[in-house]
Amino acid sequence: MDKTPAFATLLQQRLTRRQLLEAGATLVPLAAGSSLLICADASAKPKLAANLGFRPIAATGEDAVVLPDDYEYDIVARWGDSMFASTPDLDTGRLADGALIGKDAAVHQAGQFGFNCDAIHFFPFAGKRDRGILCVNNEYISHELMHASAGNTVLEFAVLHPQSVALAKAAQGVSVIEIVRGNSGWKMVKSSRFNRRITAETPMDVGGPARGAALMKTRADPTGTAVLGTFANCAGGETPWGTYLTAEENIQDYFGNLDKLRRQSQDTARVIEAHSRFRMNRRTSLYAWEAVDPRFDLSQEPNEPFRFGWIVEIDPTDPRRAPVKRTALGRFAHEGASPVIAKNGRLAVYMGDDDKFEFIYKFVSAAQYDAKNRAANRDLLDTGVLYAARFDANGKGEWLPLVFDERGPLNAAAGFNDQAEVLIKARAAAHLLGATPMDRPEDVEANPVTGRIYIACTRNENRTAEAAQTMYAGRVLTTGPDAANPRGANPWGHIIEVHEDGDDHTSLTFAWEVFLLAGDPAGGKLLTDLRDIQPGKLDSSSVYYGGYAKVSELSPIGSPDNVGFDPAGNLWIVSDGTQPNKDHNNGCWVCPTSGPDRGRLQQFLSAPKGAEVCGCQFSPDGETLFISIQHPGEGGSVEKPISCWPDGKGNQPRPSVIAIRKKGGGLIGT
Ligand code: FEO
Ligand code: CA
Ligand code: CA
Repeated sequence: MDKTPAFATLLQQRLTRRQLLEAGATLVPLAAGSSLLICADASAKPKLAANLGFRPIAATGEDAVVLPDDYEYDIVARWGDSMFASTPDLDTGRLADGALIGKDAAVHQAGQFGFNCDAIHFFPFAGKRDRGILCVNNEYISHELMHASAGNTVLEFAVLHPQSVALAKAAQGVSVIEIVRGNSGWKMVKSSRFNRRITAETPMDVGGPARGAALMKTRADPTGTAVLGTFANCAGGETPWGTYLTAEENIQDYFGNLDKLRRQSQDTARVIEAHSRFRMNRRTSLYAWEAVDPRFDLSQEPNEPFRFGWIVEIDPTDPRRAPVKRTALGRFAHEGASPVIAKNGRLAVYMGDDDKFEFIYKFVSAAQYDAKNRAANRDLLDTGVLYAARFDANGKGEWLPLVFDERGPLNAAAGFNDQAEVLIKARAAAHLLGATPMDRPEDVEANPVTGRIYIACTRNENRTAEAAQTMYAGRVLTTGPDAANPRGANPWGHIIEVHEDGDDHTSLTFAWEVFLLAGDPAGGKLLTDLRDIQPGKLDSSSVYYGGYAKVSELSPIGSPDNVGFDPAGNLWIVSDGTQPNKDHNNGCWVCPTSGPDRGRLQQFLSAPKGAEVCGCQFSPDGETLFISIQHPGEGGSVEKPISCWPDGKGNQPRPSVIAIRKKGGGLIGT
C-alpha cells in the first residue's frame, strides 16, 4: 500500500513552509566567523548587508580573472611562493624538466605555498579586520601542469625521477599563512611564526572510535594511532573554537595494486571489499606513488588507506600541535565539514561525500560547545553520533544513525565488528541503512542568517533517465531519478535546501526542497513552480532558480561545487566543471535565498582558462572575498599551455589564492 500523501497536499505543505521563511520568520542566528582569541558568540546578531547591487558579468572563456567593473583582486599566494626567509621561491623551469628536479626540491616545496589550492578559511586576530591566519588546502598536483613528461606516463616519470614523488607529497596538504591587508591589498607575511606547511609526510594523531582499531594498524604503526600525512584535501570548515577542519577527499587516487593484493591472499577479502567500495585502483594509481613508496602499495600495506578519508583538525595558532584525524566524523570522500552550534549547545557538522551516488552526513557531538573555555572543546569532535540523510519524496527526510548494534542492522553479520568498523566503512553502513544516493554531494553549508542548509550536488552523468540497475563502487545500485535527484542524466548539477525540524540542528528529521536546478535558463526551460520538478519528467534543459521567473536577469551555471555566505546570508556558489556553454570558464555566482529575489542568480567572477574555483570565504566584515583559483591551464600542459595566469605570457600557470575587494572599499556584492 502506498502511504505517500497526495503530491498536491505535500507541495502545499512545502510551499507554506517556504512562504513562512520568505515572510521573514526569524531563526536563531548562527555563529559568525571565529577569531583567535574571541570564540564565536552564538547570540550575536548577524550584520545585514544592503541588497545585492553589482553589475553581473557575462560568462566568458577569457584567460583572466574577470570581475564586475568596480572590483579588483590581490594575489595573496601562488604555488611556490616562499613562506620562510630560509626557503627560495619556486623555480618553475627546474621542476618542468624532470631531470633537473634536485634533491632539495621537496625540501623547498615544503616551505613554499602548495599546489592546487582549494578550501580557504580566515582566522582574524582578535579585534583585527586586516590581519589574521589563512588556512588553505592544497588538494593535489596536476602532473601535466607541473612537469614536462617527455612522452613518459606518470608511472614511468615516477620511476625515472623518484624525487618527483617526494616533491608531490610536499606540494599538497595544507598551507597555513599569516596575511595582512595594507595599502596595496592583502599579502602573505613571510616567516610569520604561524606559517606552516602540512604535507603527506607530516605526523598526525588519531582521535575518536577508530583510534587504535585493527584496520588502522600497519607495519610502520602497529598501534594504529600515528599516521603520516594528509592529502587530497578538498574543502574544509572552521570550528567555533578557532580550529581548521580539512577534508580528505579522493584518497583512492593515491593507492595502487588492489589486484595484486587479491591474488596473494584469501585472508583479506573484507579489506578488499572495503577498498572496492572506495574504488581503489586495481593496478597503477593516478599518481603512481606506490612505484617508489611501499606505503601506497596495497599489496604491501593493505590497511594504509583506512588511515585516510577523514576530517583532520588543525590548530592554526599552534604550529607545534599535531593535526588530529577525527574518526567519529566517518571515513568517505569528504568534500568539506561545516560546523554549526545547535540550540542546545551541541555541535552539528554537515558533510558531503563527493562521489556519484554517495551520501550526505551530519555529526552531532555528545557534549556541548564551551564558549568560555577553548581547551574544553579540544576533543569535542571525538564523541558523538554520525548520521546519513534519507530524502523522502514527500519533502521530508530523516537522519539515520551510523551506530554499531549487535541487534542490527550494523552488526557483525552485516560486516561490522564494532563502532570503529562502522565509521571506517561509513559508506557501506549508510547504504545498509537506506540513505539516499546523491548526485555527487560537494559542499554542505549552513546559511548564517536563516539556519537553512544548502547542499551542492555538482552533477552525475551516470544518473539514468529511467530506473536501471548498475554496479558502481562495489555495490549494486538503482540509478533512476528520485525526488532529491530529479534529473537523469544530471549534467549541470543542482542544490538542495534543507530546513531542520524545529530549527534544531540536532533534529533527526528535516524538510527539504530543490533550490536550484543548474543549467542555462535562456537556452532551456525555466521552471518556476516546485510542482513541475517531478523525477522522470525532466531533462538537462529543465532549470529552476528558487522559483525566480525573469529569465533575462539570470546567469547560466553548471557544476556547483563550493558554497559560501556573505554576512547578509546571500548564497555564493563557485563551480568546478563543464558550463552550459562549453567555451565558458568556471566562475562564481550569487543569489539571495529569501525575499522576492530568492534564486536571482547572477555571475560575479569568471576564472582563467582551465581553472576551477574554490574557497568562497568572506572576511567577517564582508569586504573581502577569498577565492582559490585551482589548476589554471587544465586541459593544456607544460609543453602546450592554454593559460599563463597569473604571471602573464610565457609563464607557467600557477594555482593561487586571490582576495577580491571593492575598489574604494565596501561590502562585496552590494
Ligand atoms: Fe575536490 Fe569534490 O571537489
Ligand atoms: Ca570541491
Ligand atoms: Ca568538484
